[in-house]
Amino acid sequence: MSEITVPLLDLKAQYAPIREEIRAAIDEVCDAQWFVLGPNVTALEEELAAYTGAKHAIGCGSGSDAILLALMALDIGCNGGHNGRVLCPSYTFFATGGSTARLGAFPVYVDIDPVTYNMDPEKTREAARNTENLAAIMPVHLFGQCVDMTVYREIADEFGVPLIEDAAQAIGSKDETGAMAGTRGDAGCFSFFPSKNLGGFGEGGLVTTNDDETAHRLKLLRVHGMEPKYYHAMLGLNSRLDAIQAAVLRVKLRSLEAWHEGRRANAAFYDKAFADAGARTTATPLGAGGDLPLRTPAPAVDGARHIYNQYVIRVPADLRDDLRAHLGSKNIGTEVYYPVPLHMQACFAWLNQPEGTLPESEAAARETIALPVYPELTDEQKQHVVDSVVGYLRDHAGSTSVRGGVAGSAAG
Ligand SMILES: Cc1ncc(COP(=O)(O)O)c(C=O)c1O
Repeated sequence: MSEITVPLLDLKAQYAPIREEIRAAIDEVCDAQWFVLGPNVTALEEELAAYTGAKHAIGCGSGSDAILLALMALDIGCNGGHNGRVLCPSYTFFATGGSTARLGAFPVYVDIDPVTYNMDPEKTREAARNTENLAAIMPVHLFGQCVDMTVYREIADEFGVPLIEDAAQAIGSKDETGAMAGTRGDAGCFSFFPSKNLGGFGEGGLVTTNDDETAHRLKLLRVHGMEPKYYHAMLGLNSRLDAIQAAVLRVKLRSLEAWHEGRRANAAFYDKAFADAGARTTATPLGAGGDLPLRTPAPAVDGARHIYNQYVIRVPADLRDDLRAHLGSKNIGTEVYYPVPLHMQACFAWLNQPEGTLPESEAAARETIALPVYPELTDEQKQHVVDSVVGYLRDHAGSTSVRGGVAGSAAG
């Protein structure tokens, strides 16, 4: 076994330098004995509204709840908009489709652009044309890379439906105009799950919006739709952010920009090292040649900022799991985000979008691996990752059957 260890994420390394500040902030909450919503949550909401540039930010219990609340605030699902169709990607975390379906709305899964892994805007437009009872469009800024918000805004406006951003992985990501994720949709949904760039000490989430009425509804919906006390005009849920989470997040927010830049620098290190070894970006399909059957993430377009919540590489499907096992034997943590696209999940069989209907999502699910990219990585750790990935692929590349041919065997 190698002596260098590289976990997928090392939250202890993040905690060590801010330990005293965090413990003091938690102590203050303990002394105040105000645990749910309250001054710390309000302050965090104000700070995150300022950080993102959204007019309103409303804390809630999780990113999954943020999606539920945004849909409910926009009248989709259980407050009257039953059976509405929501266009969203299949290649995403379960909550995107799960929260939609839980409300009685129907997810309609759209395929991804294989270069960005994000929902393909032209396929979305086509799906919007062909979908009856269209209620909303919900792209995901996957892995911390924004979708093209100008195009999505235009599509949502063309079809007259709300645009909801699943920005759970994208706090601080910027779109092609330099606008932050969560500021150009009708609502933006964020997660503070510990593995996110801004992660709490438990569950937490947030919804952003620029619309006063939507913000008002969100604030009611997170307390069972209650206004005034014990009167309920709307069906909501109990989804309030805890004061301890808000206190922790406020301390962490002060380091967020530095952490983003650390991740971006690590991604740049990998990009260069893998390119030097013969890899190409996802702009070249895996089967289209190159010296190494490895594709690095496509860089953000001009003006945009990728925050690399995940650094995801692509390799031939028949090597993927063995490469992961190899990296594990070198003490390198990896993950597959996500092995089963939502349209193929057993609980969505009733949607009748069977295997084969979203080929790019299905290929990405077979061919991708997330590598460690957290900001505290040392150069030695990153080099160990690069050497281990490249060494394995050099040893095995000739044995693979990439869609369309192996490295060097196809045109390009
Ligand atoms: C794309 C996406 N949507 C929604 C969520 C749900 O967030 P949470 O885990 O806080 O409920 C996540 C979290 O992993 C996510 O990655």
